[in-house]
Amino acid sequence: MCQRCCSILWHQEMSLMKGGICRPFRPSKYGSIALFTLCSILLLLLYKRNIDWTSVKPTNKVSLKPTAQPVSTCSFDSLSPEELLVFDSLRDVILWPETPSLKSNFSLNDTSDPRQSSFTILPRTGRGNWRVGDQLHVSIRIRDFHGRPKKSGGDVLLARLHNSTFHAGVAGHVVDHRNGSYSAFFSLLWEGRAQVEVVLVHPSEAVTVLQKLTEEQPDRIYFKSLFQSGSVSETTICNVCLTGTQQNFCKYTDLRTGEPWFCFKPHKLDCDARISHAKGGFRQNLQSTEEKLFQCGVNMKVSIPALGPENIDVLPNPKDGKGMTVKAHPSGYYYKGAWQALDGTRVHQFNSSTISQCLKGKAVHIYGDSTVRQWYEYLTNSLPDLNEFDLLTSKQSGPLMALDYVNKILVTFRSHGPPIRFASLPVSQLHYVANELDSVIGGTNTVVVIGVWSHFSTFPVEVYIRRLLNIRKAVVRLLSRAPGTTVVIRTANPKEMTLYESLTNSDWFSLQRDKILREIFRKTNVRLVDAWEMILAHHLPHKLHPESDIVKNMIDVLLSFVCPVADF
Ligand SMILES: *[C@@H]1O[C@H](CO)[C@@H](O)[C@H](O)[C@H]1NC(C)=O
Ligand SMILES: *[C@@H]1O[C@H](CO)[C@@H](O)[C@H](O)[C@H]1NC(C)=O
Ligand SMILES: *[C@@H]1O[C@H](CO)[C@@H](O)[C@H](O)[C@H]1NC(C)=O
Ligand SMILES: *[C@@H]1O[C@H](CO)[C@@H](O)[C@H](O)[C@H]1NC(C)=O
Ligand SMILES: *[C@@H]1O[C@H](CO)[C@@H](O)[C@H](O)[C@H]1NC(C)=O
Repeated sequence: MCQRCCSILWHQEMSLMKGGICRPFRPSKYGSIALFTLCSILLLLLYKRNIDWTSVKPTNKVSLKPTAQPVSTCSFDSLSPEELLVFDSLRDVILWPETPSLKSNFSLNDTSDPRQSSFTILPRTGRGNWRVGDQLHVSIRIRDFHGRPKKSGGDVLLARLHNSTFHAGVAGHVVDHRNGSYSAFFSLLWEGRAQVEVVLVHPSEAVTVLQKLTEEQPDRIYFKSLFQSGSVSETTICNVCLTGTQQNFCKYTDLRTGEPWFCFKPHKLDCDARISHAKGGFRQNLQSTEEKLFQCGVNMKVSIPALGPENIDVLPNPKDGKGMTVKAHPSGYYYKGAWQALDGTRVHQFNSSTISQCLKGKAVHIYGDSTVRQWYEYLTNSLPDLNEFDLLTSKQSGPLMALDYVNKILVTFRSHGPPIRFASLPVSQLHYVANELDSVIGGTNTVVVIGVWSHFSTFPVEVYIRRLLNIRKAVVRLLSRAPGTTVVIRTANPKEMTLYESLTNSDWFSLQRDKILREIFRKTNVRLVDAWEMILAHHLPHKLHPESDIVKNMIDVLLSFVCPVADF
């Protein structure tokens, strides 16, 4: 009773002032009676105020047992029953085949080797010539450094079909048979030659390491906050998970979204004295044998050679109809360097004057990480009349604003909230996208762009899922009060990788988050710009911030949603 009462008090206090402390105490006999009376009165008062306890979300499980023992607290300790339900359903979406466990003396020779592996183009079912509309099936066999076939799955593979003369390319769909063999399926979308490319992103053993890192070191990327009051200032570490004693956490729970965030309490100052947020650093804690699983040019993002021809020649489809049943459902493909969407959207090629025409009288609000800030920069760089108004904020985190007075165009950018890994930004500018969306009026002249993925890689997926659920709710609210609003989400994308990059931001982490993102927004009225396929299908290298050719194509897709060709 006492503890419950205490925790109730604590919760109340937390939600009011962020950072109360619940001390354990041993009441005397009289103290017990007094306390019981106090609790009863309190409960009665709360009851009178119609507080429905069943609807109160658990905000901090740790707080129920105040203790001086070191405890670990994570933002996902406090999931609501509704969130837990969604997590369970999403677990299947990101289920990865079992990968080999690693003994401490494992030999690299026993792990997947792209150069010893191979792919084979299988003959067309029903024989005859390949036709546009057919599906190409490629079989992939993974072997270790000794050339012995692998017997388990879980390797990370990407596949693409392309013709560089035509600047044509399409992403393949890879299926893991969990026995060391894989299939890649491709849609044949253009007439002429098509070349298969299969890349091993990570050996399955590297996935074992990445999984272990997230389980054991969810705080390997850390943050810091500056606390200041008068002439006293202190800096402490902040994260989605902290380990320490209950008394030395500051808990910053966003009141509207319920998103938690923690910092260590400064010694001299209050939790309220926090003035800034910044990236802290990265703790790399890997054995040197494990590091060998992440070698550029050896076993990370290396092409797998073909056994036999790597090209096919595709003839036109005389029936001008559907070919065979397909397993690959690409969202689009490149032809002559221009993205052709396959969801019915006619992608128009925009130049600076047609962009201005399309955005005339419109506001474009961009929220998220640097991969959508790139869109803001693309627009401000390509429209001569769109001028940035200097808000004297960080170019990295924003907020940023650009105005075209003549055409009445407003473009804004704002970074998403923690765990944003940017240089220092004031806590006043640490905003959650969901809350920002709640302040958008919306309507047919409003375009909202959201890109939230890259900064969530190292944390348990629960952190990302909760963030997206909050954003989803806000998007649904926006679209119900202003149904004409165009809401566009930029997906994750493959990137260049080094050892550091793969431990913090591997394509394997991105792939899983990308699946979650697509699933969460599947039944909403938002449009996706499929950055994953648009970068995978392109001949330019995978980059976190893709080159301008690719960004141009993304902007063309975005604007084709906003200004469909028909009313252009
Ligand atoms: C690793 O050590 C175990 C015994 O601890 C041994 O049986 C195994 O063969 C060793 N593996 C390698 C690859 O050296
Ligand atoms: C790996 O294989 C190569 C060639 O087969 C051999 O020279 C090397 O000693 C092996 N390394 C280990 C650690 O077994
Ligand atoms: C692996 O599994 C697939 C699908 O079940 C099967 O077609 C293939 O023959 C298997 N390959 C090996 C080498 O066992
Ligand atoms: C692209 O296809 C055309 C027509 O089949 C062919 O002539 C050309 O060589 C192909 N380009 C490449 C790089 O394969
Ligand atoms: C932009 O494209 C439009 C139509 O596609 C064309 O009429 C116009 O000349 C182009 N403007 C520039 C500056 O290239």
